[in-house]
Amino acid sequence: MKTVAVVSQKGGVGKTTLALNASLALARRGWRTLVVDADPQGAISLSLKKELKVALGLTEYAEGHKTLRDVLLPTRIPELAFLPVGGIKDHRPSKVEIAESVLAKLVDQASEQFDLMMIDTASGLRGRTHRVLRIADYAVVPMQAEPLSVRTLQGVLETIAEVHDQTGLELAGIVLTMVQSRDDISLETVQEVWNLLPAEFVLEGFVPRDPAFLRASAHGVPVSLLSRRRPPAVAAVFDSIAAELEPRIGLQTEDDDDLVHLLD
Ligand SMILES: Nc1ncnc2c1ncn2[C@@H]1O[C@H](COP(=O)(O)OP(=O)(O)OP(=O)(O)O)[C@@H](O)[C@H]1O
Ligand SMILES: [Mg+2]
Repeated sequence: MKTVAVVSQKGGVGKTTLALNASLALARRGWRTLVVDADPQGAISLSLKKELKVALGLTEYAEGHKTLRDVLLPTRIPELAFLPVGGIKDHRPSKVEIAESVLAKLVDQASEQFDLMMIDTASGLRGRTHRVLRIADYAVVPMQAEPLSVRTLQGVLETIAEVHDQTGLELAGIVLTMVQSRDDISLETVQEVWNLLPAEFVLEGFVPRDPAFLRASAHGVPVSLLSRRRPPAVAAVFDSIAAELEPRIGLQTEDDDDLVHLLD
């Protein structure tokens, strides 16, 4: 199993949106995927279904009262499961700390049933998010396409390099988010990031700014599930991001270059 942490210094840059939608796309490509909500604010739990606020999850697993089996939630997509953050009592996030050893045990146990564990984290790179980075194989860094974000990038890359030296964590890539294709400043930021960083640091695929994301959060679904038959165009970007991420996070099988002939 590959473990991927979605992290950023800044809040509200699209971590949860990316973690959720990319996981769904990867699950649809056949990878048995577990999405873990490690953000005490429980953003994925909230965006998936309002009632999940009260669900058990990572916190109860960490307290030792529940097994992984007790806290995993299956989804409509057979390859995709979800581990809520849990521990939310009286609408307040829990203060329970999740030790690195608990996260390591989670990786160990989840690896029996999953190919991929995608962990959504709280913004910032300290505390729990730092511990998540220490048990992850890869970090994915969403970056909002605006000039200020470029300045926070160095800190993230330094932290990843530090953890790399201790645990071998690798940067899978930076994903530009909320790109406004009709806005000069947004496009200049994209150019700047592409010029500034080597190609292996930044994915070609990016997430455009789109009102569908707000609708999706309001209904508690990933964008591609907004409509059963005709999802919004923006949902397709996660298919290309998933395809690009696969080799970057070590998800490949030998039969991947199996050519299919259209006619037998
Ligand atoms: N590409 C986009 N276009 C438009 N709105 C977006 C886009 N991506 C995310 N949003 C919206 O912006 C808000 C923040 O996104 P999201 O929750 O994914 O960020 P985050 O980095 O996880 O935030 P936090 O740091 O609070 O956990 C949400 O309301 C989401 O619906
Ligand atoms: Mg979030």
